Amino acid sequence: MQKPILILGACGQIGTELTMALRAKHGAENIVASDIREGNEALMASGPFELLDATNYEAIEDVVMHYEIDEVYLMAAMLSATAEKFPMRAWNLNMNSLFNVLNLAKDRKINKIFWPSSIAVFGPNTPKENTPQNTIMEPSTVYGISKQSGERWCEYYFNKFGVDVRSVRYPGLISWKTMPGGGTTDYAVEIYHEALGKGKYTCFLNENTKLPMMYMDDAIRATISLMESDPEKLSVRSAYNLGSMSFTPKEITQSIQKHIPNFKVDYVADFRQQIADSWPSSIDDITAKNDWHWQPMFDLENTTAEMLSNLEKSL
Ligand SMILES: NC(=O)c1ccc[n+]([C@@H]2O[C@H](COP(=O)([O-])OP(=O)(O)OC[C@H]3O[C@@H](n4cnc5c(N)ncnc54)[C@H](O)[C@@H]3O)[C@@H](O)[C@H]2O)c1
Repeated sequence: MQKPILILGACGQIGTELTMALRAKHGAENIVASDIREGNEALMASGPFELLDATNYEAIEDVVMHYEIDEVYLMAAMLSATAEKFPMRAWNLNMNSLFNVLNLAKDRKINKIFWPSSIAVFGPNTPKENTPQNTIMEPSTVYGISKQSGERWCEYYFNKFGVDVRSVRYPGLISWKTMPGGGTTDYAVEIYHEALGKGKYTCFLNENTKLPMMYMDDAIRATISLMESDPEKLSVRSAYNLGSMSFTPKEITQSIQKHIPNFKVDYVADFRQQIADSWPSSIDDITAKNDWHWQPMFDLENTTAEMLSNLEKSL
């Protein structure tokens, strides 16, 4: 029988789809969604929901006890672009929420944790192409520093206290059901909305800025598959590199123009350009492939086809 799962930050870009996927798989009553705000209609209607602040240890503990929670997925965080504006708030949210769930597991109140890291753990001195699992990191953003610290703490809690915590370094995620929440790769979602809505888009990154990206379905599949893997097979307890596709704003524009030939894009780079310039262009995820058979399914062309057809239906 499936033991109950709690998702913190369930109403965001990833949490929304993760909640729905886990509810479909394990039964809605076993998946408790929570956030500091309500989520979309489908999420709210489909199963249990709690208003819950991930920085409040006692409040999380109450919910964990009430529902007899076994696993926690911690999706609450402040993302890269917003974190540059509110550094201390980002640090407090990103770190304290992680300590809360790590400590719940250390005290054996929960048994398993998923906590996402990001390609933002890498920095300007990291090899840009095919960035390896283990390499120079030196992140230069508030968000990246919090994610790298988080990775170190996850590994520490695993080694020192036997906490079963699992993580991946998500690339920029592309989805049509929920808008992204203040990251540097948000353009790759906005561009589809604007292509359909206005036929033009002003991109906040330069046309040749190549970044690692992933379609949401792949990200959800990776997350669930890592969580279901045999713990003995997992050689990484910081966070796994996770690769799929890499493209530039120019290339995503060209792929949209195959469907909407008159679509026009201009480029006005803002502060997010500097963040993007510090990140890898492509990711070597051989360790994830070897350890838990990770295999992406979506490339740029089928991502574009999925995004445009689903957004068109929901307009
Ligand atoms: N989306 C991406 O492209 C991407 C890439 C790499 C890593 N990640 C990581 O994945 C995780 C989820 O990202 P996302 O894109 O879904 O973010 P998001 O901003 O879309 O969602 C975060 C959710 O957390 C909630 N939240 C904020 N403060 C909270 C608090 N104190 N308590 C409870 N909930 C709170 C927000 O209301 C929001 O619903 C984050 O850790 C993020 O760093 C995301």
